[in-house]
Amino acid sequence: MNTDLPLLSVFNNGIDSTITRWCTPSIHPSVPRVRGIYENDISISYHSLGNPSMNTGIFKKANELAAKAYGADHTLFGVNGSTGSNFMVLRALKNQLGPKMKMLAQRNIHKSISVAVEDYQIETEYLDPHYVDSLQIFAPNTIEEVLEGLKRSRANVLLVTNPTYEGLSTDLKKLVKTVRAFDKNIIIFIDEAWGAHFPFSKEMPLCAMKAGADICVQSIHKQGSGLQQTSMIHWNDGRIDVTWLKDSYKSLMTTSPSFHMLASLDGSRYFMEHEGEEAISRLVKLAETFRDRVNTSAKLKEKVTAIDCEDLRQNYCAHSDATKVLVHLEGFSGMELAKRLEEKYQIIVEKYEANNVLFIVTFQNTKADVEKTVAAIETEIKKMKPQTNHFPKFPNLIKKKMNSFQAKLAEKESVTIQEAEGRVAAEDVVPYPPGIPLCVKGEVIQPAHINYLKELKKTKELLTVVMVDESVQTIKVVKE
Ligand SMILES: Cc1ncc(COP(=O)(O)O)c(C=O)c1O
Repeated sequence: MNTDLPLLSVFNNGIDSTITRWCTPSIHPSVPRVRGIYENDISISYHSLGNPSMNTGIFKKANELAAKAYGADHTLFGVNGSTGSNFMVLRALKNQLGPKMKMLAQRNIHKSISVAVEDYQIETEYLDPHYVDSLQIFAPNTIEEVLEGLKRSRANVLLVTNPTYEGLSTDLKKLVKTVRAFDKNIIIFIDEAWGAHFPFSKEMPLCAMKAGADICVQSIHKQGSGLQQTSMIHWNDGRIDVTWLKDSYKSLMTTSPSFHMLASLDGSRYFMEHEGEEAISRLVKLAETFRDRVNTSAKLKEKVTAIDCEDLRQNYCAHSDATKVLVHLEGFSGMELAKRLEEKYQIIVEKYEANNVLFIVTFQNTKADVEKTVAAIETEIKKMKPQTNHFPKFPNLIKKKMNSFQAKLAEKESVTIQEAEGRVAAEDVVPYPPGIPLCVKGEVIQPAHINYLKELKKTKELLTVVMVDESVQTIKVVKE
Protein backbone atom coordinates (compact mmCIF):
# COMPACT_ATOMS: atom_id res chain seq x y z
CA MET A 1 0.00 0.00 0.00
CA ASN A 2 1.28 3.47 -0.88
CA THR A 3 0.68 5.54 2.27
CA ASP A 4 0.23 8.70 0.20
CA LEU A 5 -2.53 7.00 -1.78
CA PRO A 6 -4.05 4.58 0.72
CA LEU A 7 -7.26 3.98 -1.22
CA LEU A 8 -6.18 4.31 -4.80
CA SER A 9 -3.04 2.23 -4.49
CA VAL A 10 -4.93 -0.73 -3.01
CA PHE A 11 -7.45 -0.73 -5.83
CA ASN A 12 -4.88 -0.22 -8.52
CA ASN A 13 -2.96 -3.24 -7.28
CA GLY A 14 -5.99 -5.37 -7.98
CA ILE A 15 -8.56 -6.49 -5.43
CA ASP A 16 -9.67 -9.37 -7.59
CA SER A 17 -6.38 -11.19 -7.86
CA THR A 18 -5.94 -11.61 -4.11
CA ILE A 19 -9.29 -12.55 -2.64
CA THR A 20 -11.89 -15.28 -2.87
CA ARG A 21 -15.21 -13.52 -2.67
CA TRP A 22 -18.48 -14.90 -1.44
CA CYS A 23 -19.99 -11.47 -1.12
CA THR A 24 -21.57 -8.73 -3.17
CA PRO A 25 -21.22 -7.26 -5.69
CA SER A 26 -21.95 -10.24 -7.89
CA ILE A 27 -20.67 -9.11 -11.28
CA HIS A 28 -20.44 -11.46 -14.21
CA PRO A 29 -17.06 -11.29 -16.03
CA SER A 30 -18.86 -10.89 -19.36
CA VAL A 31 -21.22 -8.09 -18.37
CA PRO A 32 -20.87 -5.22 -20.91
CA ARG A 33 -18.49 -2.76 -19.25
CA VAL A 34 -18.29 0.99 -19.14
CA ARG A 35 -15.02 2.11 -20.67
CA GLY A 36 -13.00 5.29 -20.27
CA ILE A 37 -14.07 6.25 -16.75
CA TYR A 38 -12.01 9.45 -16.82
CA GLU A 39 -12.01 10.20 -20.52
CA ASN A 40 -15.78 9.90 -20.87
CA ASP A 41 -16.87 11.56 -17.65
CA ILE A 42 -19.49 14.14 -18.53
CA SER A 43 -22.35 16.02 -16.91
CA ILE A 44 -25.89 17.08 -17.77
CA SER A 45 -24.43 20.11 -19.51
CA TYR A 46 -24.13 17.84 -22.54
CA HIS A 47 -27.81 18.41 -23.30
CA SER A 48 -28.12 16.19 -26.32
CA LEU A 49 -27.66 13.10 -24.15
CA GLY A 50 -30.79 13.96 -22.19
CA ASN A 51 -31.11 14.31 -18.43
CA PRO A 52 -31.34 11.36 -16.03
CA SER A 53 -33.41 13.12 -13.38
CA MET A 54 -35.84 14.38 -16.04
CA ASN A 55 -35.88 10.88 -17.56
CA THR A 56 -35.15 12.13 -21.07
CA GLY A 57 -32.87 11.15 -24.01
CA ILE A 58 -30.69 8.05 -23.72
CA PHE A 59 -31.62 7.73 -20.03
CA LYS A 60 -35.29 7.38 -20.87
CA LYS A 61 -34.53 4.80 -23.52
CA ALA A 62 -32.39 2.74 -21.08
CA ASN A 63 -35.09 2.95 -18.38
CA GLU A 64 -37.71 1.71 -20.84
CA LEU A 65 -35.59 -1.26 -21.89
CA ALA A 66 -35.03 -2.10 -18.22
CA ALA A 67 -38.75 -1.92 -17.41
CA LYS A 68 -39.43 -4.46 -20.13
CA ALA A 69 -36.62 -6.76 -18.99
CA TYR A 70 -37.55 -6.64 -15.28
CA GLY A 71 -41.26 -7.16 -15.95
CA ALA A 72 -42.41 -3.69 -14.85
CA ASP A 73 -44.40 -0.95 -16.52
CA HIS A 74 -41.74 1.64 -15.61
CA THR A 75 -38.21 1.83 -14.26
CA LEU A 76 -35.86 4.50 -12.97
CA PHE A 77 -32.13 3.99 -12.37
CA GLY A 78 -30.56 4.94 -9.05
CA VAL A 79 -27.01 5.66 -7.94
CA ASN A 80 -27.40 5.56 -4.16
CA GLY A 81 -28.32 1.92 -3.74
CA SER A 82 -31.64 0.72 -2.46
CA THR A 83 -31.01 3.07 0.46
CA GLY A 84 -31.59 6.09 -1.78
CA SER A 85 -34.37 4.36 -3.70
CA ASN A 86 -36.25 3.48 -0.48
CA PHE A 87 -36.12 7.14 0.53
CA MET A 88 -37.45 8.17 -2.87
CA VAL A 89 -40.33 5.72 -2.75
CA LEU A 90 -41.38 6.52 0.81
CA ARG A 91 -41.20 10.26 0.21
CA ALA A 92 -43.35 9.82 -2.90
CA LEU A 93 -45.91 7.67 -1.08
CA LYS A 94 -46.12 10.11 1.82
CA ASN A 95 -46.69 13.00 -0.57
CA GLN A 96 -49.25 11.00 -2.52
CA LEU A 97 -51.28 9.85 0.50
CA GLY A 98 -50.56 12.74 2.87
CA PRO A 99 -51.37 12.44 6.59
CA LYS A 100 -53.64 9.49 5.84
CA MET A 101 -50.67 7.31 4.97
CA LYS A 102 -50.39 4.32 7.26
CA MET A 103 -47.90 1.57 6.60
CA LEU A 104 -47.76 -2.03 7.74
CA ALA A 105 -44.29 -3.55 7.51
CA GLN A 106 -42.45 -6.76 8.23
CA ARG A 107 -39.86 -6.26 10.93
CA ASN A 108 -36.84 -7.13 8.75
CA ILE A 109 -36.60 -3.60 7.44
CA HIS A 110 -33.39 -1.98 6.34
CA LYS A 111 -32.41 1.15 8.23
CA SER A 112 -33.19 3.30 5.19
CA ILE A 113 -36.83 2.39 5.85
CA SER A 114 -36.84 3.12 9.57
CA VAL A 115 -35.02 6.41 9.04
CA ALA A 116 -37.29 7.49 6.17
CA VAL A 117 -40.32 6.57 8.30
CA GLU A 118 -39.07 9.01 10.94
CA ASP A 119 -38.03 11.75 8.54
CA TYR A 120 -41.26 11.67 6.55
CA GLN A 121 -43.36 11.04 9.65
CA ILE A 122 -45.01 7.91 8.33
CA GLU A 123 -47.29 6.14 10.78
CA THR A 124 -46.01 2.58 10.74
CA GLU A 125 -46.93 -0.69 12.38
CA TYR A 126 -44.69 -3.71 12.40
CA LEU A 127 -45.77 -7.32 12.28
CA ASP A 128 -44.42 -9.39 15.15
CA PRO A 129 -41.32 -11.01 13.70
CA HIS A 130 -40.67 -14.69 13.19
CA TYR A 131 -37.19 -15.34 14.33
CA VAL A 132 -35.93 -18.91 14.06
CA ASP A 133 -33.70 -19.13 17.10
CA SER A 134 -32.21 -22.51 16.18
CA LEU A 135 -30.96 -21.18 12.83
CA GLN A 136 -30.60 -17.52 13.85
CA ILE A 137 -32.49 -16.27 10.83
CA PHE A 138 -35.57 -14.14 10.23
CA ALA A 139 -38.40 -16.03 8.53
CA PRO A 140 -41.12 -14.25 6.53
CA ASN A 141 -44.51 -13.65 8.13
CA THR A 142 -47.32 -15.84 6.85
CA ILE A 143 -49.89 -14.40 4.44
CA GLU A 144 -52.55 -14.86 7.13
CA GLU A 145 -50.49 -12.76 9.54
CA VAL A 146 -50.11 -10.03 6.94
CA LEU A 147 -53.84 -10.05 6.30
CA GLU A 148 -54.60 -9.93 10.02
CA GLY A 149 -52.15 -7.03 10.32
CA LEU A 150 -53.89 -5.15 7.52
CA LYS A 151 -57.29 -5.67 9.09
CA ARG A 152 -56.04 -4.52 12.48
CA SER A 153 -54.04 -1.52 11.33
CA ARG A 154 -56.18 -0.39 8.38
CA ALA A 155 -52.90 0.42 6.66
CA ASN A 156 -53.03 1.74 3.10
CA VAL A 157 -49.43 0.74 2.31
CA LEU A 158 -47.93 -2.70 2.81
CA LEU A 159 -44.16 -2.96 2.83
CA VAL A 160 -42.54 -6.38 2.62
CA THR A 161 -38.80 -6.91 2.57
CA ASN A 162 -38.64 -9.85 0.22
CA PRO A 163 -36.53 -11.93 0.03
CA THR A 164 -34.84 -11.84 3.42
CA TYR A 165 -31.08 -11.42 3.64
CA GLU A 166 -30.71 -15.22 3.62
CA GLY A 167 -32.94 -15.46 0.52
CA LEU A 168 -36.20 -16.65 2.10
CA SER A 169 -39.20 -15.54 0.11
CA THR A 170 -42.92 -15.46 0.72
CA ASP A 171 -45.41 -16.57 -1.94
CA LEU A 172 -45.65 -13.07 -3.40
CA LYS A 173 -48.26 -13.88 -6.00
CA LYS A 174 -50.59 -15.29 -3.37
CA LEU A 175 -49.83 -12.40 -1.03
CA VAL A 176 -50.72 -9.85 -3.72
CA LYS A 177 -53.92 -11.71 -4.58
CA THR A 178 -54.94 -11.93 -0.93
CA VAL A 179 -54.27 -8.25 -0.26
CA ARG A 180 -56.13 -7.17 -3.40
CA ALA A 181 -59.13 -9.31 -2.42
CA PHE A 182 -59.17 -7.62 0.98
CA ASP A 183 -58.76 -4.05 -0.28
CA LYS A 184 -57.80 -3.27 -3.84
CA ASN A 185 -56.52 0.20 -2.96
CA ILE A 186 -53.65 -0.92 -0.71
CA ILE A 187 -50.30 -0.05 -2.22
CA ILE A 188 -47.90 -2.99 -2.13
CA PHE A 189 -44.26 -1.93 -1.89
CA ILE A 190 -41.58 -4.62 -1.94
CA ASP A 191 -38.02 -3.96 -0.81
CA GLU A 192 -36.45 -6.42 -3.23
CA ALA A 193 -32.90 -5.27 -2.60
CA TRP A 194 -31.79 -8.93 -2.56
CA GLY A 195 -33.78 -10.02 -5.61
CA ALA A 196 -32.33 -8.16 -8.60
CA HIS A 197 -31.62 -11.50 -10.28
CA PHE A 198 -35.10 -12.95 -9.66
CA PRO A 199 -36.73 -11.67 -12.87
CA PHE A 200 -34.33 -13.69 -14.98
CA SER A 201 -34.63 -17.22 -13.67
CA LYS A 202 -37.45 -19.65 -13.04
CA GLU A 203 -35.26 -21.28 -10.40
CA MET A 204 -35.56 -18.12 -8.29
CA PRO A 205 -38.59 -16.88 -6.32
CA LEU A 206 -41.06 -14.84 -8.36
CA CYS A 207 -40.05 -11.16 -8.53
CA ALA A 208 -42.22 -8.39 -7.14
CA MET A 209 -43.26 -6.83 -10.44
CA LYS A 210 -44.30 -10.13 -12.02
CA ALA A 211 -46.22 -11.00 -8.86
CA GLY A 212 -48.29 -7.84 -9.39
CA ALA A 213 -46.87 -5.62 -6.61
CA ASP A 214 -47.16 -1.87 -7.19
CA ILE A 215 -43.59 -0.77 -6.66
CA CYS A 216 -40.24 -2.25 -5.70
CA VAL A 217 -36.60 -1.33 -5.28
CA GLN A 218 -33.67 -3.55 -6.18
CA SER A 219 -29.96 -3.30 -5.45
CA ILE A 220 -28.52 -4.23 -8.83
CA HIS A 221 -25.08 -4.28 -7.23
CA LYS A 222 -26.01 -7.08 -4.85
CA GLN A 223 -26.81 -10.00 -7.12
CA GLY A 224 -27.82 -8.33 -10.40
CA SER A 225 -24.35 -7.91 -11.97
CA GLY A 226 -24.11 -4.18 -11.23
CA LEU A 227 -21.40 -1.97 -9.80
CA GLN A 228 -21.61 -0.92 -6.15
CA GLN A 229 -24.33 1.71 -5.52
CA THR A 230 -26.44 0.82 -8.54
CA SER A 231 -30.14 0.27 -7.98
CA MET A 232 -33.48 0.42 -9.76
CA ILE A 233 -37.00 1.44 -8.85
CA HIS A 234 -39.67 -0.44 -10.79
CA TRP A 235 -43.39 0.19 -10.69
CA ASN A 236 -46.62 -0.89 -12.31
CA ASP A 237 -49.41 1.41 -13.46
CA GLY A 238 -52.46 1.91 -11.30
CA ARG A 239 -51.80 2.92 -7.70
CA ILE A 240 -48.58 4.92 -7.87
CA ASP A 241 -48.83 8.65 -8.47
CA VAL A 242 -46.08 9.16 -11.02
CA THR A 243 -45.92 12.91 -10.45
CA TRP A 244 -44.83 12.40 -6.85
CA LEU A 245 -42.45 9.58 -7.67
CA LYS A 246 -40.72 11.69 -10.29
CA ASP A 247 -40.66 14.63 -7.88
CA SER A 248 -38.86 12.45 -5.32
CA TYR A 249 -36.49 11.12 -7.92
CA LYS A 250 -35.57 14.62 -9.03
CA SER A 251 -35.35 15.92 -5.48
CA LEU A 252 -33.27 13.19 -3.88
CA MET A 253 -30.99 12.15 -6.71
CA THR A 254 -27.72 14.04 -6.95
CA THR A 255 -27.80 16.63 -9.73
CA SER A 256 -24.54 15.15 -10.95
CA PRO A 257 -25.11 11.38 -11.02
CA SER A 258 -22.28 9.31 -12.41
CA PHE A 259 -23.24 8.53 -15.98
CA HIS A 260 -20.86 5.58 -15.73
CA MET A 261 -22.97 4.00 -13.05
CA LEU A 262 -26.15 4.69 -14.97
CA ALA A 263 -24.55 3.24 -18.09
CA SER A 264 -23.38 0.22 -16.12
CA LEU A 265 -27.02 -0.42 -15.21
CA ASP A 266 -27.79 -0.54 -18.91
CA GLY A 267 -25.03 -3.17 -19.21
CA SER A 268 -26.37 -5.17 -16.26
CA ARG A 269 -29.84 -5.20 -17.77
CA TYR A 270 -28.46 -6.28 -21.15
CA PHE A 271 -26.43 -9.10 -19.64
CA MET A 272 -29.19 -10.39 -17.38
CA GLU A 273 -31.73 -10.26 -20.18
CA HIS A 274 -29.57 -12.26 -22.59
CA GLU A 275 -27.53 -14.54 -20.36
CA GLY A 276 -29.02 -14.23 -16.88
CA GLU A 277 -30.97 -17.47 -16.91
CA GLU A 278 -27.99 -19.62 -17.78
CA ALA A 279 -25.63 -17.71 -15.48
CA ILE A 280 -28.01 -18.08 -12.52
CA SER A 281 -28.48 -21.76 -13.23
CA ARG A 282 -24.70 -22.18 -12.96
CA LEU A 283 -24.74 -20.38 -9.59
CA VAL A 284 -27.47 -22.68 -8.28
CA LYS A 285 -25.42 -25.74 -9.27
CA LEU A 286 -22.25 -24.32 -7.72
CA ALA A 287 -24.13 -23.55 -4.51
CA GLU A 288 -25.42 -27.14 -4.46
CA THR A 289 -21.87 -28.41 -4.83
CA PHE A 290 -20.79 -26.15 -1.96
CA ARG A 291 -23.57 -27.43 0.31
CA ASP A 292 -22.83 -31.04 -0.65
CA ARG A 293 -19.11 -30.66 0.02
CA VAL A 294 -19.80 -29.21 3.48
CA ASN A 295 -22.47 -31.75 4.37
CA THR A 296 -20.50 -34.80 3.24
CA SER A 297 -17.19 -33.77 4.80
CA ALA A 298 -16.20 -36.19 7.58
CA LYS A 299 -14.11 -33.40 9.15
CA LEU A 300 -17.16 -31.14 9.48
CA LYS A 301 -19.64 -33.75 10.65
CA GLU A 302 -21.78 -32.59 13.57
CA LYS A 303 -19.94 -29.28 13.68
CA VAL A 304 -20.82 -27.55 10.45
CA THR A 305 -23.98 -27.84 8.34
CA ALA A 306 -24.91 -26.09 5.12
CA ILE A 307 -28.64 -25.48 5.45
CA ASP A 308 -30.67 -27.27 2.82
CA CYS A 309 -32.92 -24.97 0.77
CA GLU A 310 -35.63 -27.62 0.70
CA ASP A 311 -35.69 -27.64 4.53
CA LEU A 312 -36.08 -23.87 4.54
CA ARG A 313 -38.96 -24.12 2.08
CA GLN A 314 -40.70 -26.84 4.00
CA ASN A 315 -40.44 -25.12 7.33
CA TYR A 316 -40.20 -21.37 6.96
CA CYS A 317 -41.04 -19.95 3.54
CA ALA A 318 -42.62 -20.58 0.15
CA HIS A 319 -39.42 -20.33 -1.82
CA SER A 320 -35.76 -19.56 -1.25
CA ASP A 321 -32.86 -18.26 -3.26
CA ALA A 322 -30.63 -21.28 -3.82
CA THR A 323 -27.58 -19.14 -4.67
CA LYS A 324 -27.14 -18.46 -0.95
CA VAL A 325 -25.22 -20.92 1.18
CA LEU A 326 -26.03 -20.55 4.85
CA VAL A 327 -23.51 -22.42 6.93
CA HIS A 328 -24.54 -23.14 10.52
CA LEU A 329 -21.97 -24.00 13.18
CA GLU A 330 -22.94 -26.21 16.12
CA GLY A 331 -21.49 -24.43 19.13
CA PHE A 332 -18.75 -22.56 17.27
CA SER A 333 -18.60 -18.86 16.55
CA GLY A 334 -19.51 -17.71 13.05
CA MET A 335 -17.63 -14.49 13.67
CA GLU A 336 -14.44 -16.37 14.56
CA LEU A 337 -14.65 -18.61 11.51
CA ALA A 338 -15.27 -15.64 9.19
CA LYS A 339 -12.30 -13.79 10.66
CA ARG A 340 -10.02 -16.78 10.29
CA LEU A 341 -11.12 -17.25 6.66
CA GLU A 342 -10.42 -13.63 5.83
CA GLU A 343 -7.17 -13.21 7.74
CA LYS A 344 -5.53 -16.48 6.78
CA TYR A 345 -6.98 -17.26 3.35
CA GLN A 346 -8.37 -13.95 2.08
CA ILE A 347 -11.74 -15.62 1.76
CA ILE A 348 -14.39 -12.91 2.15
CA VAL A 349 -17.83 -13.99 3.29
CA GLU A 350 -21.03 -11.96 2.93
CA LYS A 351 -21.77 -11.90 6.66
CA TYR A 352 -21.33 -13.79 9.87
CA GLU A 353 -23.41 -14.17 12.97
CA ALA A 354 -23.21 -15.86 16.34
CA ASN A 355 -23.29 -19.35 14.81
CA ASN A 356 -23.74 -18.68 11.09
CA VAL A 357 -21.72 -17.70 8.10
CA LEU A 358 -23.52 -16.63 4.93
CA PHE A 359 -21.79 -17.25 1.61
CA ILE A 360 -23.34 -15.72 -1.50
CA VAL A 361 -22.40 -17.60 -4.62
CA THR A 362 -21.57 -14.78 -7.00
CA PHE A 363 -21.03 -14.64 -10.73
CA GLN A 364 -17.28 -14.51 -10.02
CA ASN A 365 -17.10 -17.79 -8.07
CA THR A 366 -15.74 -21.08 -9.40
CA LYS A 367 -15.54 -24.71 -8.31
CA ALA A 368 -11.96 -24.02 -7.17
CA ASP A 369 -13.32 -21.43 -4.72
CA VAL A 370 -15.61 -24.08 -3.25
CA GLU A 371 -12.72 -26.51 -2.78
CA LYS A 372 -10.45 -23.86 -1.27
CA THR A 373 -13.16 -22.64 1.11
CA VAL A 374 -14.30 -26.06 2.30
CA ALA A 375 -10.67 -27.09 2.90
CA ALA A 376 -10.09 -23.86 4.86
CA ILE A 377 -13.19 -24.44 6.99
CA GLU A 378 -12.03 -28.02 7.69
CA THR A 379 -8.60 -26.80 8.81
CA GLU A 380 -9.85 -23.93 10.93
CA ILE A 381 -12.74 -25.63 12.68
CA LYS A 382 -10.26 -28.10 14.15
CA LYS A 383 -8.41 -25.22 15.80
CA MET A 384 -11.48 -23.43 17.15
CA LYS A 385 -12.67 -23.83 20.72
CA PRO A 386 -16.34 -24.64 21.23
CA GLN A 387 -18.36 -21.77 22.66
CA THR A 388 -19.45 -21.79 26.23
CA ASN A 389 -21.97 -18.98 25.81
CA HIS A 390 -25.21 -19.54 24.05
CA PHE A 391 -27.12 -17.12 22.05
CA PRO A 392 -30.33 -15.84 23.74
CA LYS A 393 -33.83 -16.32 22.34
CA PHE A 394 -35.03 -13.32 20.36
CA PRO A 395 -38.16 -11.62 21.79
CA ASN A 396 -40.83 -11.33 19.16
CA LEU A 397 -43.66 -9.32 20.68
CA ILE A 398 -43.99 -5.69 19.72
CA LYS A 399 -45.94 -3.18 21.84
CA LYS A 400 -46.15 0.19 20.15
CA LYS A 401 -46.90 3.21 22.32
CA MET A 402 -46.26 6.06 19.89
CA ASN A 403 -44.90 6.65 16.41
CA SER A 404 -41.13 6.54 16.02
CA PHE A 405 -41.06 10.15 14.82
CA GLN A 406 -42.95 11.25 17.95
CA ALA A 407 -40.50 9.40 20.20
CA LYS A 408 -37.62 10.90 18.26
CA LEU A 409 -38.85 14.43 18.95
CA ALA A 410 -39.94 13.80 22.57
CA GLU A 411 -37.89 14.81 25.60
CA LYS A 412 -35.56 11.94 26.47
CA GLU A 413 -33.51 10.58 29.31
CA SER A 414 -31.02 7.76 29.76
CA VAL A 415 -31.84 4.98 32.21
CA THR A 416 -30.04 1.76 33.02
CA ILE A 417 -31.25 -1.28 31.10
CA GLN A 418 -32.52 -2.62 34.44
CA GLU A 419 -34.72 0.43 35.00
CA ALA A 420 -36.08 0.48 31.48
CA GLU A 421 -38.98 -1.96 31.92
CA GLY A 422 -42.26 -0.41 30.81
CA ARG A 423 -40.57 2.70 29.43
CA VAL A 424 -40.90 3.86 25.83
CA ALA A 425 -37.74 3.50 23.74
CA ALA A 426 -36.35 6.74 22.35
CA GLU A 427 -33.69 4.99 20.31
CA ASP A 428 -33.60 1.99 18.01
CA VAL A 429 -31.82 -1.05 19.42
CA VAL A 430 -30.53 -3.34 16.70
CA PRO A 431 -28.49 -6.37 17.67
CA TYR A 432 -26.43 -8.13 14.97
CA PRO A 433 -27.46 -10.87 14.68
CA PRO A 434 -30.25 -10.87 13.75
CA GLY A 435 -29.91 -7.34 12.30
CA ILE A 436 -33.58 -6.67 12.85
CA PRO A 437 -34.63 -4.17 15.50
CA LEU A 438 -35.21 -5.49 18.99
CA CYS A 439 -36.89 -2.16 19.77
CA VAL A 440 -37.83 0.72 17.56
CA LYS A 441 -38.37 4.25 18.92
CA GLY A 442 -41.86 4.54 20.37
CA GLU A 443 -42.12 0.91 21.50
CA VAL A 444 -42.52 -0.29 25.07
CA ILE A 445 -39.45 -1.98 26.55
CA GLN A 446 -40.65 -5.31 27.92
CA PRO A 447 -39.03 -7.74 30.38
CA ALA A 448 -38.08 -10.03 27.47
CA HIS A 449 -36.07 -7.19 25.89
CA ILE A 450 -34.24 -6.52 29.14
CA ASN A 451 -33.39 -10.19 29.58
CA TYR A 452 -32.20 -10.34 25.99
CA LEU A 453 -29.91 -7.33 26.44
CA LYS A 454 -28.56 -8.76 29.70
CA GLU A 455 -27.80 -12.06 27.98
CA LEU A 456 -26.22 -10.21 25.10
CA LYS A 457 -23.72 -8.63 27.42
CA LYS A 458 -22.54 -12.12 28.40
CA THR A 459 -22.13 -13.12 24.76
CA LYS A 460 -20.59 -9.87 23.65
CA GLU A 461 -17.91 -11.59 21.63
CA LEU A 462 -20.64 -13.15 19.51
CA LEU A 463 -22.27 -10.01 18.29
CA THR A 464 -22.63 -6.27 18.15
CA VAL A 465 -25.50 -4.10 19.25
CA VAL A 466 -26.28 -0.85 17.52
CA MET A 467 -27.45 1.51 20.23
CA VAL A 468 -26.26 4.82 21.62
CA ASP A 469 -24.46 3.29 24.62
CA GLU A 470 -22.34 0.60 22.98
CA SER A 471 -21.50 -0.89 26.36
CA VAL A 472 -25.21 -1.87 26.64
CA GLN A 473 -25.51 -0.35 30.14
CA THR A 474 -28.06 2.38 29.44
CA ILE A 475 -30.82 3.10 27.00
CA LYS A 476 -32.52 6.30 25.90
CA VAL A 477 -36.21 6.44 26.79
CA VAL A 478 -38.98 9.00 26.46
CA LYS A 479 -39.14 11.19 29.59
CA GLU A 480 -42.35 10.63 31.57
C1 LIG B 1 -33.48 -5.29 2.58
C2 LIG B 1 -32.52 -4.21 2.23
N1 LIG B 1 -32.99 -3.05 1.73
C3 LIG B 1 -32.18 -2.05 1.38
C4 LIG B 1 -30.82 -2.17 1.53
C5 LIG B 1 -29.93 -1.04 1.13
O1 LIG B 1 -29.29 -1.39 -0.06
P1 LIG B 1 -28.05 -0.61 -0.67
O2 LIG B 1 -26.84 -1.15 0.00
O3 LIG B 1 -28.15 -0.92 -2.12
O4 LIG B 1 -28.24 0.83 -0.39
C6 LIG B 1 -30.27 -3.35 2.04
C7 LIG B 1 -28.82 -3.48 2.23
O5 LIG B 1 -28.28 -4.46 2.58
C8 LIG B 1 -31.15 -4.40 2.41
O6 LIG B 1 -30.69 -5.53 2.93
